[in-house]
Amino acid sequence: MLHEKELHVFSNYSQMNINSISYYEINHNDISDVVKIHLRSFSGFFLSELGIKNLEIFYKSLLLDKKTVFIGCKQHNQLLGFLVANEFSAGLYKRIFIKKFLFFLPHLLIRFIKKPSLLFRMITSYNSSSKILTPNNCVASLLSICIDPKQSGKGIGKELISQLDIRLKDRNISSYFLTTDAKNNDYVNQFYIKQNFCQYSQYLQGSRLMNVYIKSLQ
Ligand SMILES: CC(C)(COP(=O)(O)OP(=O)(O)OC[C@H]1O[C@@H](n2cnc3c(N)ncnc32)[C@H](O)[C@@H]1OP(=O)(O)O)[C@@H](O)C(=O)NCCC(=O)NCCS
Repeated sequence: MLHEKELHVFSNYSQMNINSISYYEINHNDISDVVKIHLRSFSGFFLSELGIKNLEIFYKSLLLDKKTVFIGCKQHNQLLGFLVANEFSAGLYKRIFIKKFLFFLPHLLIRFIKKPSLLFRMITSYNSSSKILTPNNCVASLLSICIDPKQSGKGIGKELISQLDIRLKDRNISSYFLTTDAKNNDYVNQFYIKQNFCQYSQYLQGSRLMNVYIKSLQ
């Protein structure tokens, strides 16, 4: 017999509501909360170091892309976590950067002046994206998933992934990939393995060894 939660997923995935927790499509008004959770979850990471304004422009640009899937989890009107994926991730960051160059420029200049090493990290990150090895037909990618650290371990990440799988299948996507740090990152690697991702390859992003995971939706 189907669980009540599963019945909701099949009937209307845009507003699943269990115990007042709902999974829904992120909209423009959520972006400032998305950025807050991102900053709490990814402290010290490159995108976080670019600051609030650049992150806002980045996530708003992703939201505008028709190939983006952007799912949030909220309870009592508070965002607990989100994920964002894109059906065609090749060159995505470059496309966003070029499209929104004039919006990014003043905020990037401020960050680069304050911390010049960020420019080097940006170039490293950009160059290493071409080293990601995936099967030829696997072009969709999970770009970011983060749960408010206070809400971690409650099954929200797992449910967000299963919501993503449903949406990608609806878009006739048969597989997708993601990248994550290979070292000092057991929690996240174990999380993905539990969600049926298989490690496909590795690459170096500067001195960081990165794992590439694939998930088949067939
Ligand atoms: C990684 C992250 C998305 C996981 O989300 P979460 O909501 O905390 O995870 P869940 O509660 O849904 O856990 C799902 C499963 O993973 C398992 N899991 C969680 N932590 C684990 C660990 N340290 N070791 C092994 N399994 C673990 C859970 O036990 C659960 O398994 P189950 O279904 O058998 O019970 C979340 O912790 C996060 O946002 N981290 C910070 C941001 C980040 O690093 N994102 C990934 C970037 S690549």
